[in-house]
Amino acid sequence: MDRPRITIFDTTLRDGEQSPGCSMNVREKLHLAQQLDRLGVDVIEAGFPIASDGDFEAVQRIAATVRRPIIAGLARACSGDVDRAWQALQGAARPRIHVFLATSDIHLKYKLRITREQCLEQAREAVRHAKSLCADVEFSPEDATRTDVAFLCQVVEAVIAAGATTVNIPDTVGYSMPEEYGQLIRTLREKVAGIDKVTISTHCHNDLGLAVANSLAGVQQGARQVECTINGIGERAGNASLEEIVMAMRVRPDRYPYETAVASEQLYASSQTLAEITRVPVQPNKAITGRNAFAHEAGIHQDGMLKNPLTYEIMTPQSVGVPDSRLVLGKHSGRHALALRCEQLGHQFERRELDEIYRRFVVLADRIKKVQDSHLLELIQDVMRGDVSKGHVSSSDVAGSPGKKFPPAAATLPFPRAASAAAGSNSNELHFAQAASSDGQAETRPGCPPPTNWFGGVPFTDHHSEQEDYLWGV
Ligand code: KIV
Ligand code: ZN
Repeated sequence: MDRPRITIFDTTLRDGEQSPGCSMNVREKLHLAQQLDRLGVDVIEAGFPIASDGDFEAVQRIAATVRRPIIAGLARACSGDVDRAWQALQGAARPRIHVFLATSDIHLKYKLRITREQCLEQAREAVRHAKSLCADVEFSPEDATRTDVAFLCQVVEAVIAAGATTVNIPDTVGYSMPEEYGQLIRTLREKVAGIDKVTISTHCHNDLGLAVANSLAGVQQGARQVECTINGIGERAGNASLEEIVMAMRVRPDRYPYETAVASEQLYASSQTLAEITRVPVQPNKAITGRNAFAHEAGIHQDGMLKNPLTYEIMTPQSVGVPDSRLVLGKHSGRHALALRCEQLGHQFERRELDEIYRRFVVLADRIKKVQDSHLLELIQDVMRGDVSKGHVSSSDVAGSPGKKFPPAAATLPFPRAASAAAGSNSNELHFAQAASSDGQAETRPGCPPPTNWFGGVPFTDHHSEQEDYLWGV
């Protein structure tokens, strides 16, 4: 039997961008939207067009450029907002207007200063107006989880009658518990007339660390769209993390027998792209995409991993796009290896651009021996900004110097990826790596596992990049 399909609605560019330090300019938003497209999300909420000219332009540019996913623009429940959102979405292949209005008594009394009756009428009117412009209309009763349930049902029924095609149930302040949130979705399904004609959506904030659990509980009770963000960024403690939602369903189909269209191998690149753009690093222990997510340090774990990775890994790094552990980038690496790593980090380059990156990479690698993803991303940023005049990396750019541009290379070394790696080279594997130690040699002490890179790869002593350098015309 086919598994129900869950629509992944990415709001990194709207709710995510509202988190402190995560604002992005139009170019950066477009770049991220293109990566979200590669990731396979179904809906990209590209911004809140009335909020600023920059937001308007970002929605407009993304709508004109990214053609596969639905592009949504947010609007408060008033005609000015709805019109502006629609204007920004004009060029979209598949536009959606997302209207929201708070429904909890706290918000009605203190924020909006309107009665429940006024709220009901305003929601109905705004959705009717949006529907007159666009076939795809989503409505969100903000602070739904603190709204009187009977009133919430009344509002949801009214907006469905007015033409909403998706009804989103935000846990705006991250207050709900999983059973409670699931129960709310169930109640709506039982009590609201017309609910079976629309998609129910979850939108959970992470104030109590329950955003993912609440979203999954909502799905179990019939929600078929999940709103989430890359790296879980968003207002305050953030939103439900996209990568965690997707991988929970993929790793535990026995509990969550649902499908998404997400290409999980693009999760790491998406996470890195966002971190690079916002310069907000991913916390090391972040599930799925943190740098420790596949690192094993404890002796017992290392022993288990050597015997069989299944002992301590519930998914493979490859399944979420964590770069090939053997591909350690150093000064002997070739353009092919560099191009592949850039691609894994979400950047595809033409030959000329790659030449420039390669030229700078070699200079850097000469100084810091092992080039980490963070270093490479810095370098890519410089080249993309057209900042190629420097053409060199000064000593003040590297680790240990005040105002350093490039962070120090990994201090702790995680675990070798697989027993075969520890045992030696495997003819099926890439042999681009260089040694990890400062003198360019792999260090192996008796009784110790060989040195590894961030993602657990064992560096090889036999690098063979000359051949590919030749092919790439070095
Ligand atoms: O958290 C929230 O309530 C929102 C709405 C605008 C959907 O972000
Ligand atoms: Zn939100």
